[in-house]
Amino acid sequence: MSNAIESVLTERRRFPPPAEFAAAAHLGTWEGLLELEEEARKNPEAFWAARASELWWDHRWHTVLQWQAPDARWFVGGTTNVCVNCVDRHAASWRRNKAALLWEGEPGDTRVLTYGQLHREVQKTANALLALGVSSGDFVAIYLPMVPEAAIAMLACARIGAPHTVVFGGFSAEALADRLRDSRAKLVITADGGWRRGAVVPLKDNVDKAIVDTEVRNVLVVRRTNSAVVWDPKRDHWWHETVDRAAPIHRAHAHDSEHPLFSLYTSGTTGKPKGILHTTGGYLTGAAYSSRLVFDLRDEDVFWCTADIGWVTGHSYVVYGPLANGATVLMYEGAPNQPGPDRFWDIIDRWRVSVFYTAPTAIRAFMRWGDEWPARHDLSSLRLLGSVGEPINPEAWMWYRSRIGGDRCPIVDTWWQTETGSIMISPLPGATPTKPGSATRALPGYDIDVVRKDGTSCAPNEGGFLAIRRPWPSMLRTIYGDHERFTKTYFGEIAGMYFAGDGARRDEDGYFWIMGRVDDVINVAGHRLSTMEIESALVSHPKVAEAAVVGRPDDLKGQAIVAFVTPRSGVSADEALATELRAHVATQIGALARPEEIRFADALPKTRSGKIMRRLLREVASGSTTRGDTTTLEDQGVLERLAQSFAHED
Ligand code: WTA
Repeated sequence: MSNAIESVLTERRRFPPPAEFAAAAHLGTWEGLLELEEEARKNPEAFWAARASELWWDHRWHTVLQWQAPDARWFVGGTTNVCVNCVDRHAASWRRNKAALLWEGEPGDTRVLTYGQLHREVQKTANALLALGVSSGDFVAIYLPMVPEAAIAMLACARIGAPHTVVFGGFSAEALADRLRDSRAKLVITADGGWRRGAVVPLKDNVDKAIVDTEVRNVLVVRRTNSAVVWDPKRDHWWHETVDRAAPIHRAHAHDSEHPLFSLYTSGTTGKPKGILHTTGGYLTGAAYSSRLVFDLRDEDVFWCTADIGWVTGHSYVVYGPLANGATVLMYEGAPNQPGPDRFWDIIDRWRVSVFYTAPTAIRAFMRWGDEWPARHDLSSLRLLGSVGEPINPEAWMWYRSRIGGDRCPIVDTWWQTETGSIMISPLPGATPTKPGSATRALPGYDIDVVRKDGTSCAPNEGGFLAIRRPWPSMLRTIYGDHERFTKTYFGEIAGMYFAGDGARRDEDGYFWIMGRVDDVINVAGHRLSTMEIESALVSHPKVAEAAVVGRPDDLKGQAIVAFVTPRSGVSADEALATELRAHVATQIGALARPEEIRFADALPKTRSGKIMRRLLREVASGSTTRGDTTTLEDQGVLERLAQSFAHED
């Protein structure tokens, strides 16, 4: 049977929520879900006020929402502190001696921090940051591996009102430098190195290179790998000296609900990544509400989200969302196949993980590595599985359900973005019947639709643009330093609505099927990259005259990067040059952006107005391979047509 036909057959399967699950879930029934949706529809502001009331506030807001498109202010006049909500309140309760963080390093070392201990650590870190001259409103950059200090640093920043900007440890020194300059960070928190597949990622070296010509005055360094680092005693400070010596008491002040909490850089359609800015009260409301509902978090759970804190998923579902709910979070530093392809299953087995949240690209890799690896471990502690980051193909969904979930665990396929701050579309585990490959319905409170370019709703099964009609608490507030780009990108495409950049359709049951990006953003192994950003990196190489980058469907990564390059005259286009260019992209952006394939061409196909015809290149790039099974053939065609009607297209 061809992949496409098999996909269609699997898509038609339906899975009712398991009854024993429904009985205990936070939102246990389909009727309950419809009721909550109705409550939100009737009075959205009262609905969100009730959700925000589950958090601690120093001063209650006077106005739930001020909305003057595209500018939203939520819980206006309210003051709170994100760190107090995630830590202090639990440390002051029976949860004081409950595990907040269960941590495992790649080499196998472990640490456990209770809420009481986490409280002590965030207070010391807050004092250390203040002593290093950080004040409320200053950006702090965090460039750390997945160690407990990463979560502690984020929480300490939130505590003192210094917005953080976390930079994924896989980004190069160049990419880090761009983000440091754009955010004007004064302090960087990093480590001597991080472990990845048994090797050390030289984080401190990258920081040393990146901070030239930036406003960074101090660097706080966690000792992790014991590797040799260059040390500037005027600027560099060891975490184990500075933080460990700091006073363990820090009185937290409340911040305005709209005080910036963090910015996180993400790829858009241009060469320059944008700093997505999130604020305090609304963001935490969305992260806490979605964590509780979608993951049905309970006190006895061990929740493991495999995302790195360098991505938004790591912000909302490793740190803020679960901790706001007083949950126990597992954090793992390294690669999924170190030392063997069963590392994740071994972790689940040993720590008795009950809720597991990962990306389709990882699931497809596990499928490929073989069923024997999960079969070696006792996965009976699992009760719920999640997926995020890209469309999950029905085959991977079915494999996940049977081989990992033992046909017992519901799967929540969650759609959201860096910009939305928290999960927007997802089944609720005790309530929503699922269909493999569909993210199902919007969470109560969100008004999401699939529309045509003119903003009218699409008919059932008609492909269109995913759009959000009303503001929501955890929405981005701006692109840091470029409000005009924010307005244009998100509210300039479809009148009166937030435009997500994704193509989608809704089926006859109103379920959402996300088809992928319609702009020049590509999704490689769950990582969001801009084709223009990779093109800029390529043309910055002295041997390159011109470059065009497209994504082609890939069975494992969802999309693979294909670069068409015209070398400068006199340069020979050979394998050595391809290798050199791949390495160049890795230094400019990071290994995650390295093209899978480089094709040399004498010239690139262009329109009369001189624009590169990407559509044609996409066809050429995918022509030589079979289409990936990530979406059905039909979806691919629709997406292509949507992309063509999109304003930024050729
Ligand atoms: C894609 C990650 C299909 C989508 C949280 C979106 C998905 C982009 C899903 C955001 C899903 C995320 N099904 N596609 N469940 N989740 N996406 O900002 O294209 O890194 O626009 O946020 O990932 O990526 P970002």
